[in-house]
Amino acid sequence: MAKTIIVSNRLPIRIEKEEEELIYKTSEGGLATGLGSIYKENDNIWIGWPGISLEKEEEQEVEEELINRNMRPVFLSESEVQEFYLGFSNQTLWPAFHYFIHHMRFKEKEWIAYMQANQKFADAISKWLEPDDTIWVHDYQLMLVPELLRNKFPNVTIGFFQHIPFPSYEVFRMIPWRKKLLNGLLGADFIGFHTYDDMRHFLSSCHRLAGYSYNRNQILVKNRLVEVDSLPMGIDYDKYAESAGSQLAKAKEISYRDSLGPQDLILSMDRLDYSKGIPGRLRAFEKFLGEYPEYQGRVSMFLIVVPSRDKVPSYKELKEEVEFLVGHINGKYGTINYVPIHFYYRSFPLDDLSAFYRMCKIAMITPNRDGMNLVSKEYIASRENVDGVLILSEMAGASKELSDALLVNPNDEAQMVLSIKTALEMPLSEQKRRMSSMQKTVQKYTIFQWVDLFINNLKDLKKRQLAMATK
Ligand code: G6P
Repeated sequence: MAKTIIVSNRLPIRIEKEEEELIYKTSEGGLATGLGSIYKENDNIWIGWPGISLEKEEEQEVEEELINRNMRPVFLSESEVQEFYLGFSNQTLWPAFHYFIHHMRFKEKEWIAYMQANQKFADAISKWLEPDDTIWVHDYQLMLVPELLRNKFPNVTIGFFQHIPFPSYEVFRMIPWRKKLLNGLLGADFIGFHTYDDMRHFLSSCHRLAGYSYNRNQILVKNRLVEVDSLPMGIDYDKYAESAGSQLAKAKEISYRDSLGPQDLILSMDRLDYSKGIPGRLRAFEKFLGEYPEYQGRVSMFLIVVPSRDKVPSYKELKEEVEFLVGHINGKYGTINYVPIHFYYRSFPLDDLSAFYRMCKIAMITPNRDGMNLVSKEYIASRENVDGVLILSEMAGASKELSDALLVNPNDEAQMVLSIKTALEMPLSEQKRRMSSMQKTVQKYTIFQWVDLFINNLKDLKKRQLAMATK
């Protein structure tokens, strides 16, 4: 029976070592949830990196354990982690694609490591691949994989989804290996992006940098029809709504509230990343407390920063900047019984997140640039009483669907400051009108629909390609 092979840099599992013992922690991430219904079925598999460097005998043990869970590990050496993952993926592609061009670096050695690591993933796929299988590759770390597979298996079905933005061709062209990256992706049959703009940028790069002509969303690559489309990713709405409505989340909310006091809370929750706009949000909050002193003591920020890529210097610097700003603002406006910013540098389980989503009247999600941003959707799904206000950056992919949020330009500090005031003072009827409309949207386009749509588009295209070939 034909199977589906999911491929991403990270497996939907985290392995940690606690005193010589290997602990397997399943990922709660959106992608893992959405694809869970696929890769656990039949002979389907998920291929990726387990996120830890191990000794040879441990690799063997992990491989056996993962095979039982329908996963196949690709182990990366320390130098591959350094050059492929922390280097080219996260210090060339990530900053370029998020328009942080001052953070981007171009090291030939890291590009070579990127090519070799992509080959390693392609080899791992080849090992398990049969002719009728469908391969679905995810994200910027693996842009060369589709072409590497296409060269070896000309007729196999390959889909690719880009989870981060695709930059304008003016920025993309700065990367020395731009054409190779485009051709890498064009090995796929179907390429998905979160937004129409990302898709348009990609098409324009294909045309202007690699000479391909396109018609609407179709590109002809050596007589092979490649299609691109925008498919915004959703969440498992019921999971978040049910968790937020559970007795446990309610009990946690009550107990946190007892300790915190009655002030209004603004939720800020992201991975540690400069693209998320955390310092700008903190500065806007500081300015807000200064401009509207009547709110001092009445509103606090609940700041959760999830550790990420902290070996990359720009991330380390960001952590220091956030810590400095939190200390500065708390020192300036805090009192014996008022903490302006409650700061947590760690991740939390879903029960806690649900309690946080419940107790924060406002969620302020203001990235400088973000492919989608699922936290904004999780917040919406968790608002059991259909109230609360979402302040959302125009630069997040989610803003295209969530037009009832208070949309802000994260570079416009005055607008950010005002949005906090507007959110705090928004009448309940308006909160409900906006929240109810956003809940309808998020409930309608879930992660499960997204998966089905992608797979159906891919299969449908394959049929049309075959019909074209037999004409
Ligand atoms: C973003 C990317 C993912 C990545 C995740 C966490 O959401 O789109 O591909 O896995 O960040 O980053 P990390 O570097 O820890 O995998």
